[in-house]
Amino acid sequence: RALKKAVNIADLRLIAKSRAHKMVFDYLDAGSDDEISLRRGKDAYTELEMHYKILAGIKPPLDLSTKIFGMDVNLPFFGCPTAGNRMFHWEGETAAARAAETHGTLYGLSSLATTGITEIGELHNGPKVFQLYVWKDRELVKDVIAKAKEGGFGALALTVDFTWYGNRERDIRNDFSIPPKYSIPQIIEAVRKPAWTYDFLSHDPYTYACINTEVPADSLAAFVNSQIAPEFNWSDAEWLLGEWNGPAAPKGVVRPEDAKKAIEIGFSSIWVSNHGARQLETSPATIDVLPSIREAVGPDVEIIMDGGVQRGTDIAKAIALGADSVGVGKPYLWGLAAGGYDGVNKAYDILKVELDRAMGLLGTPTVEDLKREGPSLIKRRHG
Ligand code: FNR
Repeated sequence: RALKKAVNIADLRLIAKSRAHKMVFDYLDAGSDDEISLRRGKDAYTELEMHYKILAGIKPPLDLSTKIFGMDVNLPFFGCPTAGNRMFHWEGETAAARAAETHGTLYGLSSLATTGITEIGELHNGPKVFQLYVWKDRELVKDVIAKAKEGGFGALALTVDFTWYGNRERDIRNDFSIPPKYSIPQIIEAVRKPAWTYDFLSHDPYTYACINTEVPADSLAAFVNSQIAPEFNWSDAEWLLGEWNGPAAPKGVVRPEDAKKAIEIGFSSIWVSNHGARQLETSPATIDVLPSIREAVGPDVEIIMDGGVQRGTDIAKAIALGADSVGVGKPYLWGLAAGGYDGVNKAYDILKVELDRAMGLLGTPTVEDLKREGPSLIKRRHG
């Protein structure tokens, strides 16, 4: 019922908060350190104003279709790869993938997903991208890439902002672990959130299915730090591109120089991101760096952007300022935690209606129009 009444993404967040175990909600919701990047990443959109065109003569329906990694999609936004979805709701990644397919958009599967590559490959027939963390074990990397190819993943995103695990202080304070420890605060929270607890206890064991690994009962941060290869560099990235041999983006770019270099070594696309402000604190708001990256790579290189998007107007601004498509992480995860598949669908519905309205009012009926005219329609406040 509450889901039906949700008017916007912020409402979904509140439902998620009331339904999920605090430790899990905070893992989903938090940024690193003092959460400065988290706040700025969202607030940066409010500094941008929409100088809409009048009497543009637009006849609905608008055309929101475009391409992402060369694959046809109905929407210019999509669900980013995110870890551990079964924590939020037992349907986990399957719900997120099915909702993306329902809306005809891209689905991003994380290396730290709790549903396997092959399972998602079989279930989601639409366009999908596999996100790769670079494991110390190269054979594992090769194995994962091969599975992604077989599973019909049309593109690879190499996450490059995760050489160390970010300092998520909410997780430390909550003593975050999966399964929850049997400490008094965890038990009280489990009793307070019976629907979540029932779901969590009564469904499949929780494993990192993509890499076939039991979830370490102790610390996710320590596990990731022990498995990931921070020494991975540009020439290793070239090796990886050779192994993959298909559309690929480095995910986590914030500097124009890095974007240029990535294209030079053979990436097809650039993914501007700061990992939802969960990694390096005071990394810039992605919407602020986007125009300089567009300028650096020129008009023809595909740019995907994510970070802080919670409104259709945010998506419109990102496309207007140089993104070809826009990823969302927390918005659909709040939907997932609020109500499984229905919740993710609701998140997509909300953003779609909002984007449709924003583009109509702005005077740009297609994604192409928005890209072409965008830079003249968005201006910085007081500018
Ligand atoms: C993420 N993100 C992420 N990125 C990635 O490359 N691999 C991963 O496993 C994860 N896991 C993950 C878990 C959770 C709970 C969140 C919120 C995010 C980052 C994600 O792909 C994306 O870059 C951000 O979420 C985008 O910012 P917003 O939309 O959350 O503000």
